Amino acid sequence: MKLPDEIQFINSAFQTQKTTDVRMDGKVSIITGATSGVGYQAARRLAEGGASLVLVCRNSEKANALRKEFIQKYASDVEIVLADFSKLSDVRKAADFILKKFQRIDVLVNNAGLHRTTRILTEEGHETVFCVNHLASYLFTRLLLDRMIKNAPARIIQVNSEGHRFGGLDLDDLTWSRRHYIGLQGYGASKVAQLLTVWEFADILAGTGVTINAMHPGTVKTNIGMDNGPLYRWFHRLFVRPLLRKPDISGEAIYYLAAAPEMQNVSGKFFNQTVEETPMPHALDREFGKSVWQVSEELTGLPKLELAGSLIKMTDPVSFLLT
Ligand SMILES: NC(=O)c1ccc[n+]([C@@H]2O[C@H](COP(=O)([O-])OP(=O)(O)OC[C@H]3O[C@@H](n4cnc5c(N)ncnc54)[C@H](OP(=O)(O)O)[C@@H]3O)[C@@H](O)[C@H]2O)c1
Repeated sequence: MKLPDEIQFINSAFQTQKTTDVRMDGKVSIITGATSGVGYQAARRLAEGGASLVLVCRNSEKANALRKEFIQKYASDVEIVLADFSKLSDVRKAADFILKKFQRIDVLVNNAGLHRTTRILTEEGHETVFCVNHLASYLFTRLLLDRMIKNAPARIIQVNSEGHRFGGLDLDDLTWSRRHYIGLQGYGASKVAQLLTVWEFADILAGTGVTINAMHPGTVKTNIGMDNGPLYRWFHRLFVRPLLRKPDISGEAIYYLAAAPEMQNVSGKFFNQTVEETPMPHALDREFGKSVWQVSEELTGLPKLELAGSLIKMTDPVSFLLT
C-alpha cells in the first residue's frame, strides 16, 4: 500500500535496506561525531571497508580509544581532529587542519548532532542545536567543498532526520528569543535548515562529480538526548529506548550511501537509511531554502557563493568557487 508522502517513513523502516560489499580501501572519509551512536557505527563500518578515517570529535579520550580500536581491529589509518561544533571557530580550525593534511577527501559524513529540551545559547550567540546540527555542518562542508571538487568524485552525506517533520524553522527567531523553546521543534528547525541547504548544494555541485545526499539513520539506540534532565532520561529509558533499533543499521546505511557504485551520480535526495523518501513540503520550499542559505552564509561569516544556474553554466566551476 502506498502511504501519503508525509507518513511514508512508516513503510520505509520495514523495507529491505540496501547494502554493498564494495571496498573503500584508502578512501579518505571524514566523520564528525564519531565517538558515539550513528557516527561510531559509520566509522566502524568504513574502517571495516578499508577507508582511511578522519574522525572529528570533541572528546580526546573517547577519540583516542576509537583510534586504538580501529587500528587493532582493522589496521586502519586514523587521524583524530578535535573540535567542538558548538563553536564555529573550532569548525574553521578543524577544516584548516584537514585541508593542510589531506590533498583529497572522498567522503564527508556530517553526523555530529544533538537534541536538547532547553534553549542554550553558544558562546558565539547561536542556539546550540541549530549551531551543531546545521550551522557547523554547513560551514564545514563549505570549507571543504573546493578540495572535494578538485579531487572528485566525492560524496557528502548529511545525517539528517525524520525529525525534520516537526518543523519549527523561523528565520526571524533562530535563537528562540521570541518563542517558547520546544526541544522537538528546535531539533526539527535545525534539520529543516540542513535539508533546505542540501538541495542548494546539490544544484551548485551538479556536474562537478561531488554528490550530496541527506539521510535519516533509522530510529536507533544511541546517546542522543541523554544529556537532558532526569525526567526526560527516565521517560526515554522506560518508554522510548525499548522501541529503538541497534545503531549498526545506521552504519551499514551510511556505508551503502558512501560506497555503492549505483550511488555515484545520485545527488540531492533524502533517504530513510537507504530508501529514498519525500521530505515534508516545508523542507522542499526552494524559495525559502535560498533565504536559509543566505542566512547560513551570513551567520557563519562565509563569502557569498553563487547558487544554481549561474554556476552550472560556468565552464570552470572550480575557479568560480574559489572567487
Ligand atoms: N539516534 C537516532 O535515532 C537518530 C535519528 C535521526 C537522526 N539522528 C542523527 O544522528 C546523528 C548522530 O546522533 P546519535 O543518535 O548517534 O547521537 P549520539 O550517540 O549522542 O552521538 C552524537 C555524536 O555527536 C557528537 N557531538 C555532539 N555535540 C557535539 C559538539 N558540540 N561538537 C562535536 N561533536 C558533538 C557526540 O560527541 P560526544 O561523544 O563527545 O558526546 C557524538 O559523537 C545526529 O545528527 C542525529 O540528529 C539520530
